[in-house]
Amino acid sequence: MPFKLNIPAILACAAIVFSSASQAGVREDQLAQYASAAKVASTGFAGFSAERGRSLHTQNFTSGKPDTPACTSCHGKDTRGTGRAPSGKTIDAMAVSTTPARYTDPAKVEKWFKRNCTEVLGRVCTEQEKGDWLTFMLSQ
Ligand code: HEC
Repeated sequence: MPFKLNIPAILACAAIVFSSASQAGVREDQLAQYASAAKVASTGFAGFSAERGRSLHTQNFTSGKPDTPACTSCHGKDTRGTGRAPSGKTIDAMAVSTTPARYTDPAKVEKWFKRNCTEVLGRVCTEQEKGDWLTFMLSQ
């Protein structure tokens, strides 16, 4: 029997490869944007740090809403575990290794950074903080 190419299967594989590649690209693009903005904000900018991101995620702030002093108040202490919103709604794990669709929609990321930083820190996060936090979550 002659070898027959299974075109639909090949196309399906290509689609999966390209879509996961472009999702990874979306996160990198957003990090690159935060990096350029951080450079403009501070000439001392020397890259993002997952360690600083971790402390931003776990630190208790007193400047925001008292019932949500930390990112972990809703997202939980384990980045690979589920969290819980004040409404009681379960929040999927923030670690990319556990929830691969995370941070693939830049508008969603920006919307929640704005909302959650205001809630926890009582102000918006800087580009440096957003880049550090995202770098930490991408490493999880
Ligand atoms: C009051 C509860 C609450 C707190 C506190 C909170 N978050 Fe969230 N966060 C949510 C909810 C709810 C969502 C949206 C649901 C989802 O994405 O699963 C979300 C989503 C996000 C997203 C978007 C994720 C994506 O997939 O694009 C980011 C980024 C984020 N949070 C960052 C933070 C950071 C940084 C902090 C701490 C400064 C924080 N959150 C604190 C409730 C919270």
